[in-house]
Amino acid sequence: MLPPKLSPSMMCADLFRLGETIDVFRAGGVPWLHIDVMDGSFVPNLMLGTGTVRQIREAAHIPLDIHLMIEEPGEKIAWFDPRPGDYVSVHAESTRHLQRVLAKIRDLGAKPMAALNPASPLSMLEDVLPDIDAALIMTVNPGYAGQRLVPQTLDKIRRLRAMLDERGFPHVEIEVDGNVSLENALKMRNAGANIFVAGSSLLFKPGNLADHIKLFNENVR
Ligand code: DX5
Ligand code: ZN
Repeated sequence: MLPPKLSPSMMCADLFRLGETIDVFRAGGVPWLHIDVMDGSFVPNLMLGTGTVRQIREAAHIPLDIHLMIEEPGEKIAWFDPRPGDYVSVHAESTRHLQRVLAKIRDLGAKPMAALNPASPLSMLEDVLPDIDAALIMTVNPGYAGQRLVPQTLDKIRRLRAMLDERGFPHVEIEVDGNVSLENALKMRNAGANIFVAGSSLLFKPGNLADHIKLFNENVR
């Protein structure tokens, strides 16, 4: 099994305390920062803009995991200036030319990831497996923090892991996003996920951020 990793959801962070939050992430060895980009059309919400993403990048020196929840992401990917080591995910539902968009992410030097909403079948990814470094299974309908797990997505993770392994893509990672609490993370891990988007359910909740990270590292293995 690929090792478990955290990708903190920066839309849930207090931007007025970004410096100290990033210090905790750096000390905790967090490998990516999850950046939710919403266009008010693909999802019913608007955030995080190119300027904010640039500021987070410059302050953090941690690779970004840019989750594009936007219609026809193709030409807009370059706006976020992806770098080697970054993940960029695009939704299979958001473009008529998924393979071309994934190839473009690779051309820009970043790691391509294809994302699926809870209702979208895994068959949408079947023919792009050579084009991705990871698949993002949405475990809530994207748009907001603080929602409840859509339970049937756990079996979808399991089926995706089996599909990847059977077809010769054991290196392709599975990211999960939405209501990743410690309890749900254990179930998702058991199903085969290895990158955990940590939002209001896991990290950005009352208590100490470093303790929440420690608890994840000790329990999700
Ligand atoms: C959902 C967002 C998530 C969200 C996850 O559209 O992509 O990043 O913030 O956090 P919680 O734990 O609040 O579901
Ligand atoms: Zn996300």
